[in-house]
Amino acid sequence: MKHIIGIVGTNSKRSTNRQLLQFIQHHFKDKAHIELLEIDQFPLFNKPASKKLPKIVEQAVNLIEGADGVIISAAEYNHAITASLANALHWLSYYISPLKNKPVMITGASYGKLGSSRAQVQLRQILDSADIKARVLPNSEFLLGNSLQAFDQEGKLVDPDRINALESIFEEFIKFIDYTQAFLNENQKSSLKISESSKEE
Ligand SMILES: Cc1cc2nc3c(=O)[nH]c(=O)nc-3n(C[C@H](O)[C@H](O)[C@H](O)COP(=O)(O)O)c2cc1C
Repeated sequence: MKHIIGIVGTNSKRSTNRQLLQFIQHHFKDKAHIELLEIDQFPLFNKPASKKLPKIVEQAVNLIEGADGVIISAAEYNHAITASLANALHWLSYYISPLKNKPVMITGASYGKLGSSRAQVQLRQILDSADIKARVLPNSEFLLGNSLQAFDQEGKLVDPDRINALESIFEEFIKFIDYTQAFLNENQKSSLKISESSKEE
C-alpha cells in the first residue's frame, strides 16, 4: 500500500482544504495510507545563516522523504497560494530537497466557484522551481468550488461528480507514483552506464 503525505495548504483552523484531505484520507483508505501534515506551526522563514532547520521542519522533511508521494491541497488568497504554504515551501527548499523527484498531486478548495484554480497554477510553477523539482501529476486539476457547501455533516463530499473526478485523478496518481519510480530508476541506470563507459575511454 502506498504511503502518502497530505499537506494542508493553509494555517487556518477552519479549512475546507483540510476537510478535503480528510475526505481523501478516508475515501481511499484501502488504496493508500494517507497522513496529514499541518504547516501552521512552521516559523516564518528568515533564511537563517546557520542553515539549521527548526525541529518542526525537520520532522516534515522526514515524513516527506519517507513517503511514496505527496498531495498538496491549496487554499487561495488573492488568486495565489497562502502565505503559510509559500512559507512552508521556502523551508522545504532551503539547503534541502525532500520534494525533489517526489510525485505530487495538487488539489484545492475555495469558497468561490473556481476551486482555487489560480492558486493551483501558481503552486504547479513553484513545485517546478530549481530548488524543489517535484514531479507533479500532469493534466490533472482537482478543483473544489463553493467549498463551504461541498461537504455533508459527516465530512463526505456531496457532489457525486466531484467524487468521480477525484477517484479518477487519484487512480492516475497511484499509477504515476509507480511510473515516476520506474522512470527515475531507468534514468539512474543509463547515467551509471554513461559514467562507466566514459571511465573506460
Ligand atoms: C485574504 C483572503 C483572500 C482570499 N482570496 C480568495 C481568492 O482569491 N479566491 C477564492 O476563491 N477565495 C478567496 N478567499 C476565500 C477563502 O479563504 C478561500 O476560498 C480558500 O481557498 C478557502 O480554503 P480554506 O477553507 O481551506 O481556508 C480569500 C480569503 C481571504 C481571507
